[in-house]
Amino acid sequence: MRIPAMLAACLAVCLCAGAQAEPPIVIKFSHVVAPDAPKGLAAERFRVLAEQLTHGRVRVEVYPNSQLYKDKEELEALQLGAVQMLAPSLAKFGPLGVKEFEAFDLPYIFPTKAALYAVTEGRIGMGLLKKLEPKGITGLAYWDNGFKVMSANRPLHTPADFHGLRMRIQGSKVLDVQMRALGATPEVLAFSEVYQALKSGVVDGTENPPSNMLTQHMQDVQKHLTVSNHGYLGYAVIVNKKFWDGLPGDIRSELEQAMREATAFEKTIAQRDNDRALEAIRDSGKTSVHILTPQQQAEWRRALQPVQQQMAGRIGKGLIDEINRTTAEVR
Ligand code: LMR
Repeated sequence: MRIPAMLAACLAVCLCAGAQAEPPIVIKFSHVVAPDAPKGLAAERFRVLAEQLTHGRVRVEVYPNSQLYKDKEELEALQLGAVQMLAPSLAKFGPLGVKEFEAFDLPYIFPTKAALYAVTEGRIGMGLLKKLEPKGITGLAYWDNGFKVMSANRPLHTPADFHGLRMRIQGSKVLDVQMRALGATPEVLAFSEVYQALKSGVVDGTENPPSNMLTQHMQDVQKHLTVSNHGYLGYAVIVNKKFWDGLPGDIRSELEQAMREATAFEKTIAQRDNDRALEAIRDSGKTSVHILTPQQQAEWRRALQPVQQQMAGRIGKGLIDEINRTTAEVR
């Protein structure tokens, strides 16, 4: 059957155009928090910026709330190239073999956010990201969240109140030692399992910044929350190194710009969202919010300060000393 000449010409043009329009490079960005948590909002901001700055040559698919992978699985998926980007908590790199990241979990290691930024945005932070490369991972940025509070179904005023409690932690040896120093029994659970474990009584309590408590509705299953600010939770934004190194240079530069802008955005919302989350939990009337007295704070510090020394062998005394020197210089 002869195809009319006009139709044949149109087909040729379409086929040619199709050959030129490259399919977009897809970045699957998996994470374990709610879309409206600071990390979730930043991931969405990165998606918009990346697609804009690359003029659609990159498409970012964000999979929040452990939709694609849970805690431990997501790091394995990244190393296999099943996903391209993650932003795991800094407490989740120990099992990868990069134990130095657990320095971020040490109780009271960061007196203020400014002190934390001096570490993450300086030589120490960059040096730690470099340690991921032998694992096939490129670290792009640090994203903030906040100082952690403690929750349970009994008031937690002093370390003695922790005795006999099973407390959920992330998979960090420092957090294991932290909970034991308080007299509690630590239980490692994936973030996606915490709500149900609290509801069913598998664990009695947990720790996290208020934004994670609220966006996972933990006020429904925890009667008491103590504003302890005993430790910090933040993130490293990471990509599969082979994927990242294989990108065209211009696209990689545009994605680096998108990451810079998303990181700056995330830094402006993290503390604000945690402050708002704490108020929202208090206003819910479901969870009693306790503020420690100076004497109680001193008791917590006495119980937890030894963790730094106990973990020096695992994390590196030199690194801990360097972090303490850096934070001490920040006014
Ligand atoms: C947790 O597991 O408690 C947190 O790491 C979740 C998150 O990514 O903020």
